[in-house]
Amino acid sequence: MSRLSTGIRVSFTRAVKSEHSLRQRHRAAYSAARESLNIASLPLWSNLGQAALLVQCLLAIHFALIVAAPVVAQEKIELRIDVSRTGAKIDRNIFGQFAEHLGHGVYQGIWVGPNSKIPNTRGIRNDVVAALKAIKVPNVRWPGGCFADEYHWRKGIGPQRVETLNPNWGGVIEPNSFGTHEFMDFLDQIGAEAFISVNVGSGTPQEAAEWLEYLTTAQPTTLSKERAANGHSAPYKIAYLGIGNESWDCGGNMTPDYYLSQLKIYSRFVRNFNPTQQNKEQMLKIAVGPGGGEARWTEWTESVMKAWQNRQWSWDMNGLSMHNYTVVRWPPAFKSVGFGETEYSQILKSTLEMDNLISKHSAIMDKYDPEKRIALAVDEWGAWYAPLPGSNPGFLVQQNSLRDAILAALNLNVFARHADRVRIANIAQMINVLQAMIMTDKGQMVLTPTYRVFKMYAPFQDSTFVPVTFNAGSYTHGDITLPRLDAIAGKDTAGKLWLGITNVDPNQPVEVEISLTGINAKSATGETLTAPKVDSVNTFNSPNTVTTKSVSAKVQGGKLALRLEPKSVTVISVEQ
Ligand code: AHR
Repeated sequence: MSRLSTGIRVSFTRAVKSEHSLRQRHRAAYSAARESLNIASLPLWSNLGQAALLVQCLLAIHFALIVAAPVVAQEKIELRIDVSRTGAKIDRNIFGQFAEHLGHGVYQGIWVGPNSKIPNTRGIRNDVVAALKAIKVPNVRWPGGCFADEYHWRKGIGPQRVETLNPNWGGVIEPNSFGTHEFMDFLDQIGAEAFISVNVGSGTPQEAAEWLEYLTTAQPTTLSKERAANGHSAPYKIAYLGIGNESWDCGGNMTPDYYLSQLKIYSRFVRNFNPTQQNKEQMLKIAVGPGGGEARWTEWTESVMKAWQNRQWSWDMNGLSMHNYTVVRWPPAFKSVGFGETEYSQILKSTLEMDNLISKHSAIMDKYDPEKRIALAVDEWGAWYAPLPGSNPGFLVQQNSLRDAILAALNLNVFARHADRVRIANIAQMINVLQAMIMTDKGQMVLTPTYRVFKMYAPFQDSTFVPVTFNAGSYTHGDITLPRLDAIAGKDTAGKLWLGITNVDPNQPVEVEISLTGINAKSATGETLTAPKVDSVNTFNSPNTVTTKSVSAKVQGGKLALRLEPKSVTVISVEQ
């Protein structure tokens, strides 16, 4: 990864540097005081009055510097962008969503049934569909998660649905009323592609192979006739196939070798027959990958990638999954609302580990796949907090605050900087579960702060990464120091330049000056997202506490000048 693109890393150097320069300023001031009193020429303690004066003077300087310290933090930050230096495409699929049969993620979140009073189209909520269309969801991963390894697709098709249990998530009844056709209809309504996770843990290769035949064949087989009888004669398109989920844990506690033997079988036999996906737009197969940075995960990545490098013609994969939640410690204990600056800085420090984790696994992947043919699919990411008091702990209900919006922007920035390897990502989860886009309660719906960031970032979908060089400065709270600012840039398919800039500091605004090479900026406008407090949330009664407002940058001497509010995410586009 280019040094130019590592704003976060530069920022730590900057933090150390600014502490260093503060010390230097102290030292220079002390020497100046000594010189002005000509102390060097005085015999030690020869004049008590002068010594007292020196102490007073030094104390005054010391306190003046402490008081002046925030001025250092308020220095202008310069962003430098040369639009001719482009990087990889920021794949729109890094803005993917994850919808598991968990709590009210699917039932009530998406599905209310055709007889509901809540406005719906064939059982799917109209308000949710409109909201998701607006953020241009590229793909949805379904039906899990851990749920996928206990899911049997035949129970979710046809007029008679089988009621089963959902032992992973609260042990509730799974009505199977939202099944294959309902999921594909939902995708069609929001304009997204399918990421289907097949059951490796408790299913069979035959069950998964038949599901794909049912979904994709255009031939008149018994399964395709059944699909037509259930309302869809044309073959469906499946963009991604997840082969298992966390097979090292809830997906069957497999060793890398055991999983690899499963992967090879599923990769060989679970075929996509859709005629339009044979040459172009082929279905991408995603293998289970790591869930952290410890040795067991690096060994897992190593084993799968090594096997792939030595593969026979009969199997293949196109992506390696990686799951990484921002949780700090297990079980999740951080509150999702009603917290202060300490928890704000702790969570953001933890979330920035995403960069190290991706670098670590990318380095292993580079050994076996220097051409980067295998994508790293961060297909579960986001904040995982303590369940909201009074909620079913198995439903993973949490609030979504301004902190989550900032967390989302920082992670999307990390993915963009790793765009050459990270080409798929799915935030967990889309509705009513974990770091959701949307929360619903019966007929009510509210858009979360995270949703707003996804909406602001939509122009980066399929844009070309443009490196931004900057010294991020630092923000310190207690023993935590974070980069004060983060920024990415992308050139969209029409050639327009977009910038996403986050001011992590919850107390100080940041003045930024943007120097552009290769573009004659006439104006720059966009939106900024902030709120009164780090734990501000949107509720059904107050849906716009965390919301966006318009911003515009001043053009001064060919540079753009912009003031970023504390704890804010800003996206602007440049007109030339
Ligand atoms: O997103 C909740 C759960 O977290 C998923 O089901 C599982 O894959 C992960 O452990």
